[in-house]
Amino acid sequence: MRGFVTDPAGQAGLRLADDLPEPEPAAGEFLLEVRGYAINPGEVGLIARRPNGWRPGQDVTGVVLRAAADGSGPPVGSRVAAVVDWESWAERVAVPSGWAAVLDDRVSFAQAAAIPCAGLAALRTLRYGGAVLGRDVLVTGATGGTGQFSVQLAVLSGARVTALVSGPQRVDLARELGAHRVLTSLEDDTVGRFDLVLDGVAGPTVAQAARRLKPEGTLVVYGGGTGSTVEPRDLYLNGVANGRLILGFIGILPHETKGEDIAIVADLVAEGRVRPLIGWQEDWTRTPDAFDALAKRAIRGRAVLLREP
Ligand SMILES: NC(=O)c1ccc[n+]([C@@H]2O[C@H](COP(=O)([O-])OP(=O)(O)OC[C@H]3O[C@@H](n4cnc5c(N)ncnc54)[C@H](OP(=O)(O)O)[C@@H]3O)[C@@H](O)[C@H]2O)c1
Repeated sequence: MRGFVTDPAGQAGLRLADDLPEPEPAAGEFLLEVRGYAINPGEVGLIARRPNGWRPGQDVTGVVLRAAADGSGPPVGSRVAAVVDWESWAERVAVPSGWAAVLDDRVSFAQAAAIPCAGLAALRTLRYGGAVLGRDVLVTGATGGTGQFSVQLAVLSGARVTALVSGPQRVDLARELGAHRVLTSLEDDTVGRFDLVLDGVAGPTVAQAARRLKPEGTLVVYGGGTGSTVEPRDLYLNGVANGRLILGFIGILPHETKGEDIAIVADLVAEGRVRPLIGWQEDWTRTPDAFDALAKRAIRGRAVLLREP
């Protein structure tokens, strides 16, 4: 079987191997013919840290080749979007039944590939804000792979959405996603205050966003950037009484409901109410080329690789 493995001598630290073992699904897993996947920033870092034959790949979409032996999960022939614990950048992969959503015919494989990890993170972080109807939500990294879903889901939920983007070149795109207001900096007295902040940038943005919370506001930091420091006095001195800070692998956990949460986003895509922003789309054999574009921060939204069987 063909699939990507890490190899320090290969382009972007990857090599397309042709001698991989066939997946052996456990009882609660089905066998998927891979038709596409997206690249997540976390994988980019892991490829450098696991150089010897490790097999990346969390997001995946494709067609069920063999149903799960225990009767769980979708039947043969179903089109699905899913997350897996690695090894999806290959021709076939084993998928836990509860980590997959069956796709409506209106969702393309490219759209489906864009959804899993980013869609989960956007949906699950938004839930920390409770009922956001009419409330002020700030989304940082708003034109990134996850932020673009966050903006769209928050708008759909009735929030007044402010997008923070990395520069003026991203402003129009954030508006196209539906943001009511677009900022390029939080260091301005006119920024205002927010009931909920969804932060995928981390670093100094964390403290800047904390100072912009309303009393009892919630700051959710899901980004893996370094150099984040927030002091309790950042909040006290700015009138943020009892602000709430949520940190962690929010997209990943809980495991049990991943499939149903991917389905929520995929169904919104089917209805045309969410449009995944895909900034780079190529044949899967060009996976290493995507890393050059990612390193240059040239991709808006998701980098998607597609595979014809
Ligand atoms: N905790 C979880 O469960 C979870 C789930 C998904 C993702 N993540 C993490 O969340 C982060 C974002 O993920 P993603 O998929 O959205 O990544 P992404 O597609 O690379 O998007 C990152 C966004 O942040 C912006 N950005 C980066 N550095 C910035 C800076 N210094 N100032 C302002 N904006 C900046 C980028 O702007 P440009 O457009 O200019 O590049 C881009 O819009 C990553 O660290 C990822 O590992 C965590």
